[in-house]
Amino acid sequence: MDFKGLSRDKILKLLKKVKEEDLTYDSGRILGSMCTSPHPIAKEVFCEFIESNLGDPGLFKGTRALENDVIKMIGELLGDPNVVGHVVTGGTEANLMAMRAARNIKGLVKPEIIVPKSAHFSFKKAAEILRLNLKEAALGPDYRVDIDSVGELLSSNTVAIVGIAGTTELGLVDPIPELSRLCEDEGVYLHVDAALGGFIIPFLKEAGYDIPDFDFRLKGVTSVTIDPHKMGLAPIPSGCIVFRGREYLDSMSIETPYLTEKQQSTIVGTRSGASAAATWAIMKYMGREGYIRVVKDSMKITHFLARELKRCGFELVTEPQLNIVAFNSPDMPPEALAHQLGLKGWSVSISSYPPAVRIVLMPHIKKEHIEAFMEDLTRI
Ligand SMILES: Cc1ncc(COP(=O)(O)O)c(C=O)c1O
Repeated sequence: MDFKGLSRDKILKLLKKVKEEDLTYDSGRILGSMCTSPHPIAKEVFCEFIESNLGDPGLFKGTRALENDVIKMIGELLGDPNVVGHVVTGGTEANLMAMRAARNIKGLVKPEIIVPKSAHFSFKKAAEILRLNLKEAALGPDYRVDIDSVGELLSSNTVAIVGIAGTTELGLVDPIPELSRLCEDEGVYLHVDAALGGFIIPFLKEAGYDIPDFDFRLKGVTSVTIDPHKMGLAPIPSGCIVFRGREYLDSMSIETPYLTEKQQSTIVGTRSGASAAATWAIMKYMGREGYIRVVKDSMKITHFLARELKRCGFELVTEPQLNIVAFNSPDMPPEALAHQLGLKGWSVSISSYPPAVRIVLMPHIKKEHIEAFMEDLTRI
């Protein structure tokens, strides 16, 4: 760091130049991200609450009330307004908290978790941090978790089973009702990772889409991860972890002697109240009606892309269930195709299982972007 500080103008000028190296959502070129441009009202509120710290909630009682209200709204969305939980930094922290609660409440010497092969890598982090033995359940031919495989992996050391409502790579929803029945029968903790699908599935269901229940409407579900900073249009960082009962939060509560509250269950200490306030604002602003419009529009673009790809001779890995399309070219491996697309300015991602070019149709992707993308793709 230099001894003498720079002027405001100089700093903003320097940063403007740096920012030019970033891709923007508005360009329509970011085709492989689950994040999107936050709504303007969420950005405004985020800045307004930038000073508040929910790690010391007695100082910020208003923001604390907003966090509680977010959790209540999320609970209503997920079929149980009495859930408890927190606004956290994202799906990774939410999944880590869920696995921590499952482990602590069971108190086994050699704890194991069972996750689908399609699970997000955050479970590998959680397993390493919490010293859990991670067992991967096989997927069926439809790339959803195979219930028989989960049943075979179950043991007296199992502390949690995980189901995914909106897989990271293909956007598919695991058979959560079956997992719920299994967990109820066996008395095992079921965590649903709806980081992606949580702000999509409830609204698609309300719009008439046929998707089975995935949330607290199912008796076997113990906790759910849901990320407002994905389809919820909230700024990063905003994830939520919600539990069916207070005992799960209590199972990981730590004494915090010098703060305004004497117990804390979150992993992060000092944590942004701006995330909670901005999430509260966007949920109130959009209402269910607003989110229904957003997810229906994203699904329309998703189906448009899927149709165009098939028409041009590309192979879809599977028919899209949520807003992700994964496809392959008959002439080129996905890495080579992604590279060629990159040279033309398109940032796509690649799925690992199965390998394919993966496109996430977030609200910043419009029909004209897909038309331009298809033109470049077919030229390649
Ligand atoms: C299903 C799922 N769970 C968890 C995560 C992790 O979320 P984050 O990157 O917000 O920590 C992701 C991220 O893409 C995800 O797709």
